[in-house]
Amino acid sequence: MSGAQRNILVTSALPYANGPIHIGHLVEYLQTDIWVRFQRLRGHAVTYLCASDAHGTPIMLKAREQGIDPEELVETFRAEHRRDFSHFGVDFDNYYTTHSDENRELVESIYASLDAGGYIARRTIRQAYDEQEGMFLPDRFVRGTCPHCGAEDQHGDNCEVCSRTYTPADLINPRSILSDTTPVERDSEHYFFRLGEFEDSLRQWTRSGVLDEGVAKKLDEWFEAGLQDWDISRDAPYFGFRIPGTKDKYFYVWLDAPVGYMASLANLAARNGSPGVDHYFGRDSTSELYHFIGKDIAYFHTLFWPAVLEGAGYRKPSGVFVHGFLTVNGQKMSKSRGTFVSAATYAEHLNPEYLRYYYACKLGPGLDDIDLNLEDFVNRTNADLVGKFVNIASRCAGFITRSFDGRLAAALDDQPLYEEFVGAGKQIAACYESREYGKAVREIMALADRANQYIDEHKPWVLAKDPDSLPRVQGICTQGLNLFRVLLTYLKPVLPELAGEAERFLAAGKLHWVSPTEPLLDRPIEKFKPLVTRVDDQVVAAMIEASKREQAG
Ligand code: MSP
Ligand code: ZN
Repeated sequence: MSGAQRNILVTSALPYANGPIHIGHLVEYLQTDIWVRFQRLRGHAVTYLCASDAHGTPIMLKAREQGIDPEELVETFRAEHRRDFSHFGVDFDNYYTTHSDENRELVESIYASLDAGGYIARRTIRQAYDEQEGMFLPDRFVRGTCPHCGAEDQHGDNCEVCSRTYTPADLINPRSILSDTTPVERDSEHYFFRLGEFEDSLRQWTRSGVLDEGVAKKLDEWFEAGLQDWDISRDAPYFGFRIPGTKDKYFYVWLDAPVGYMASLANLAARNGSPGVDHYFGRDSTSELYHFIGKDIAYFHTLFWPAVLEGAGYRKPSGVFVHGFLTVNGQKMSKSRGTFVSAATYAEHLNPEYLRYYYACKLGPGLDDIDLNLEDFVNRTNADLVGKFVNIASRCAGFITRSFDGRLAAALDDQPLYEEFVGAGKQIAACYESREYGKAVREIMALADRANQYIDEHKPWVLAKDPDSLPRVQGICTQGLNLFRVLLTYLKPVLPELAGEAERFLAAGKLHWVSPTEPLLDRPIEKFKPLVTRVDDQVVAAMIEASKREQAG
């Protein structure tokens, strides 16, 4: 344990249950999982939650298209997503769903508090309506000619040619993408959350150090633009929770989605008796609450969600950690180029731990997009993991097994060098804590270079030829393996699978962050088995080809 034990609740965004998890999503789930594993390794109590985001028009329509209930579609994707995440070692305590009784009850009670507090307004709005389908059309479901530049077949809310924004009513020759008929304008009463009421407390919260600079800047822009009322209702037909007291109005998916974090917690607590919603979300909670999200959903998590929490009498998050988007070879993921790689396809071809390592190399605390360069991915995996890190162990283990009956020496060969490695842990921990994973990995690899250099200098393979030098050989290899063990501890949040295998080989139980304080001496190790294999360009190329084929259908 390093200092007092912290009580931490961590979430990743809830994936929509209507498509596969892909390597873009994985930036977030791997970033979060590494942080969670790091905190646990330090001895802190962490609960890591996620769930399927089940509601909304796209899911309703996709289910209809397949001729199944939306519930069934959601459960199918939920099972698939859980499987994908487990392949990548993402270690959730619970992976629930927003379409649950817990979520319905929480949303209803939050809505009742907001209404009682005077934070809900009711107003009639005009909206595009598809008479053939019998439903109101979200902006994205209307297309037509841009009223500004005349470009044809543009979205209902913005033009991809001239980038200007407008409403579907402004489009020339608007069409419903569902029926290809011309939508009509129709009135409907909608419910609004009065976000502006929370401006002062949101500004205060923003400045209290809960957001990184880049995100805080974005918020300032949004404050400048003014906080508008937020439309939280949708008319039937809609897949979601009906608003109590209405016949045909539903909560907009984005109202109940973040409440899904709470519902996942409530479900976990009910199953294993662990602390529940009040403990983590109560006004006076002393535990920490962090949301990891992508930059596209920052508005929901840094404005709407904290305001909803406040309005309903809950605490606000201790931090919202926002990451950028994945590019592949410097470009947006592309189905035709085969770089839109699903988690499942990746895992069929390559070791998930390599992607964990690569993303760790690339990740920092900011909003910058991160690039997966496939050539660099191959080189780095081979150079760092195979060539540097695991190489330390493979160079030393054989001598211990063959010449010393698998037993480590009783003393280190170079105590000061060992202590230097242990001392570096402080700085590396600070990097993980602040989500500077790239920096942490660079420090660890610099130490790996030092360890290899140490072995090169002492040349155990030369000494081993001279019987008188054998005790030295045992000491040098014991030193090397202990240096490896320190670095293994530092990399354990990134490479949990490899760490597990190496722990078996070192035969001294599970590593904790403080384990290296005591070196392994005068004790047996198991026979060494190769922990990683080189990545071959051909396998990466095969993965890209497989992705192309999948997209082609
Ligand atoms: N359902 C909402 C989140 C609700 S949270 C209460 C959603 N789902 S999503 O499936 O579209 O995205 C889930 C997370 O993955 C989001 O944080 C999103 O930013 C992230 N990513 C999705 N594609 C991504 C990339 N290409 N790159 C990096 N992160 C990406 O949004
Ligand atoms: Zn235009």
